[in-house]
Amino acid sequence: MASQKIERLLLAVLVVAGLTTMSSGTTSSPLQYDYYNATCPGVEEVVRTELVALFGNDSTLPAGLLRLHFHDCFAAGCDATIMLKSHNGTAQRDADPNSTVRGYEAIEAIKAKVEAACPLVVSCADIMAMAARDAVNYTMGPAYQVETGRRDGNVSRKEDALRFLPPADGNVSVLLDYFAVQNLTYKDMVVLSAAHTLGVAHCPSFSDRLYNYSGAGDVDPRLDAAYAANLTAACPAGNVATVQPLDPVSPYTFDLGYYQTVYNREALLASDAALLDDSLSFAYVQLMTNGSSLSIFFDDFAASMINMGRIGVRTGTDGEIRATCSIYVD
Ligand code: HEM
Repeated sequence: MASQKIERLLLAVLVVAGLTTMSSGTTSSPLQYDYYNATCPGVEEVVRTELVALFGNDSTLPAGLLRLHFHDCFAAGCDATIMLKSHNGTAQRDADPNSTVRGYEAIEAIKAKVEAACPLVVSCADIMAMAARDAVNYTMGPAYQVETGRRDGNVSRKEDALRFLPPADGNVSVLLDYFAVQNLTYKDMVVLSAAHTLGVAHCPSFSDRLYNYSGAGDVDPRLDAAYAANLTAACPAGNVATVQPLDPVSPYTFDLGYYQTVYNREALLASDAALLDDSLSFAYVQLMTNGSSLSIFFDDFAASMINMGRIGVRTGTDGEIRATCSIYVD
């Protein structure tokens, strides 16, 4: 018993030390805390109040808003360009990886409330960062202060989403490349993947693992066999509409259930299962299967969300503040 405890402590020290030395991260930021203190005091409360009402009507919305912020940040920066619409299908939201992204209307509804309080002051990009933070906290995840001062971009290109959003079948080295391009670290990748403690995936996001893993009609051997059989029953070949929880342990709670799911070999996405293949990510996953690691995870997740929220931000005279987030740009 005692030796197990020492082993776990050692592992914790090693993992935390190992990942920390690798995490240079984004070191400085043009953003700041309480940016709207003088120009729109109370904006965070307006956002939170509207969100709590929306979450009360739709318990799946927190997951949608967390993913929306991620997809905005990775494709051309956290500048709300994912919100923009195009008549000819050329905007970020028209790209395949964004076809199941949700929460656009919620951001618009919040923006309308914010505009009523402080016209043309608060950017859509900041509202999206606040909404992602509130989504995490509403589902029992960490409360952290969000940096603000972003401005909105007005060019939205489908290619940016196609080029910069990581693929669901990526292994650790592929995923690291996608994160490194954004100036995010190994640790950010392992930690932010745990956003999959919330929400769902549609069958096509993982059906290759059930039906055609190595091109020979086989099941991914890294998937627990009994769980794979359940998934196959839920997702008959060709089914595109059915969804499954990314974290069946606790789909609506922001907790360590994601890492337990990965550890149990019940992760839906190959990109999540891949965390077991590399020794450092494996060690982090294993550490996080212990409930006492929750506060380390919460601190890590908050820090990595702040890093992600700094990607490609527009500040000062760059970009714009627009009244409606999802206008047509062509
Ligand atoms: C590590 C690379 C990542 C990959 C390859 C990836 C891929 C995916 C895929 C394929 C889905 C399911 C889409 C569907 O079938 O509907 C999904 C869902 C989701 N992703 Fe990720 N993701 C990654 C990282 C992230 C990050 C960094 C966040 C946020 C910080 C995030 C948040 C979410 C959430 C909350 C959902 C559930 C959405 C919902 O229920 O509507 N993901 N992701």
